[in-house]
Amino acid sequence: MPGLYSQKEEYELITALKGRGEVPLKFAYFGKGAERWAKIEASSQDQKKKGLEFYERRLFSVKMEQILNTFGDLGKLNLIDIGCGFGSDVYPVLDYLKKTKKGKEVSYTPIDISEQMLKLAGRNIEKGYNVRVVPNRLDFESGNISEITSKSRRDGYSNLLMFMGNTLGNQSDMTRVLSNFRDSMTSEDYLIVGTELLARHKISTIIKEYYNRRIVYDLVFTPLEYYGVRQGDGKYMVRFNDNLNQVEAYFILNKDIRFNIGKDDVTLYKGEEILLFKSTKFSDWGIAKIFSSTGYRIESLMSNPENNYALVLCQPSRFRF
Ligand SMILES: C[S@@+](CC[C@H](N)C(=O)[O-])C[C@H]1O[C@@H](n2cnc3c(N)ncnc32)[C@H](O)[C@@H]1O
Repeated sequence: MPGLYSQKEEYELITALKGRGEVPLKFAYFGKGAERWAKIEASSQDQKKKGLEFYERRLFSVKMEQILNTFGDLGKLNLIDIGCGFGSDVYPVLDYLKKTKKGKEVSYTPIDISEQMLKLAGRNIEKGYNVRVVPNRLDFESGNISEITSKSRRDGYSNLLMFMGNTLGNQSDMTRVLSNFRDSMTSEDYLIVGTELLARHKISTIIKEYYNRRIVYDLVFTPLEYYGVRQGDGKYMVRFNDNLNQVEAYFILNKDIRFNIGKDDVTLYKGEEILLFKSTKFSDWGIAKIFSSTGYRIESLMSNPENNYALVLCQPSRFRF
């Protein structure tokens, strides 16, 4: 039976563990992780709990007309959903197009590292909407995705690349990822990115109510669990890193443990802190800085009335200084 991860992915995981003491979050969404993410997403979209997904969805729906009006012609639109999860980020776009009878031909291109996520996203969209689905399993950290964007531009389609759910804030190297997308875009393509804004006074509440939960711990522990590590071998700890404006979650070992990843031995030592994920929160200034330094022109920066979530609509800038 094939393993959960490819050999290349296993090498990356070993290197990240031994080199940086990190389990990259992208490995959490494989296998059981897909169901675990479903629980978090559902609770986060709940009107009463008002999580990240709730704020993002509401802001996206309110701003939909403004966003889509940036395209001169909406006749043929291709939605490239990067890190698609269940594909629910595109519902507001598809609902809007259906309601207004705009966008005669719409194509949906979900991209995800997790096969399970891709299947679920494709199934959800095909069930609810009449669109062509073109799935791609790939790791967007490993290079540009111009093969996908070029093919999907054929026959007069416009590309809207979507990178939502504060997935940017989870990346170990955010500039590398944004550079990969920029290198995949022509001056006619647009990218929309959803990011959480820094509300410093709310951080301790966010940590308690969102990150310090069993369902979040279960998700981010998925890769270690797959290799036989037990939650009882250590403890879960979430803290805010003031210097980097990011929430960080660690697994702290309470004893030495040894396990194998593929043919390699891994030893983790008592007291070692393994980074399970980080989630960067942005200031307006931080957004302007990272997008301009990675070669984008911001067309529109939209935030919600609570000032805790932003959508950045941008295009590659032609000249860089
Ligand atoms: C936080 S979830 C967000 C899902 C969805 N966009 C949403 O807002 O609900 C992140 C998604 O991105 C995918 N992902 C994370 N890193 C990735 C990478 N390097 N390459 C491809 N997919 C990745 C995960 O598998 C997961 O489905």
